[in-house]
Amino acid sequence: MQVLAINGSPRGSGGVTALILKPFLEGLGSVELIHTKDLDIRPCQGEFHCWFKKPGECFQDDDMRAVLEKIATADVLVLATPLYVDGMSGPLKNLLDRMIPLLEPEFELRGGHCRHALRENVKRGRLVLVSSCGFHELDNFDPLLVHVRAACENLGREFAGALLRPHGWVLRHLLKQGEGQDVLDAARRAGRELVEGDMSAETLAGVSRELVTLEECVRMQNE
Ligand SMILES: Cc1cc2nc3c(=O)[nH]c(=O)nc-3n(C[C@H](O)[C@H](O)[C@H](O)COP(=O)(O)O)c2cc1C
Repeated sequence: MQVLAINGSPRGSGGVTALILKPFLEGLGSVELIHTKDLDIRPCQGEFHCWFKKPGECFQDDDMRAVLEKIATADVLVLATPLYVDGMSGPLKNLLDRMIPLLEPEFELRGGHCRHALRENVKRGRLVLVSSCGFHELDNFDPLLVHVRAACENLGREFAGALLRPHGWVLRHLLKQGEGQDVLDAARRAGRELVEGDMSAETLAGVSRELVTLEECVRMQNE
């Protein structure tokens, strides 16, 4: 199983999202991990060159060329991002915009809905979301989940689930005190479960579990 993980946090492996991503990828086994912060990926220019001039190829010669090839062959694509203003980080959105060369300009009907056909050489695999945020409530991820599910429909990938870590900074704090290890264990278990089939709701709830009460979270932040 070919797994490609893309971390869109500007803080890369030193960030809170990576705290969850790392054990999840360990559970998955052999994966390739890339960080958008290490790559030169310029914004899509909206010229449709990749559709009408040189099908499948963007005219911009940057790191997205190599990333596109990896995405096209991945059985599992893991998108990791901090929650930024209720959505994914800018660098990750930028990268998704640059995935358009994987699609054909032609429309087709999939499940009665208008979509772009996928190019023949593009794998129709699964996609997992990994995200962390600062606020306490799990529902802060709702807009991001709607977006990623919709993107899966358009990119022809099955949404396999999400590892979501609200009040992620509290986890970092607890880990320093030797607590919260069960959250990382749940992330690792989720990786193993995905290899076997599907991630269980119980395991994903373990990743997201409340670490401190809402009131305690507010108090800690304001200290
Ligand atoms: C520009 C910016 C926007 C943010 N927007 C939100 C937000 O809308 N909701 C939220 O709960 N946290 C928000 N946060 C907090 C981050 O999601 C949180 O700190 C996250 O765990 C950072 O992950 P990282 O260390 O992997 O980058 C924001 C942080 C930044 C820097």
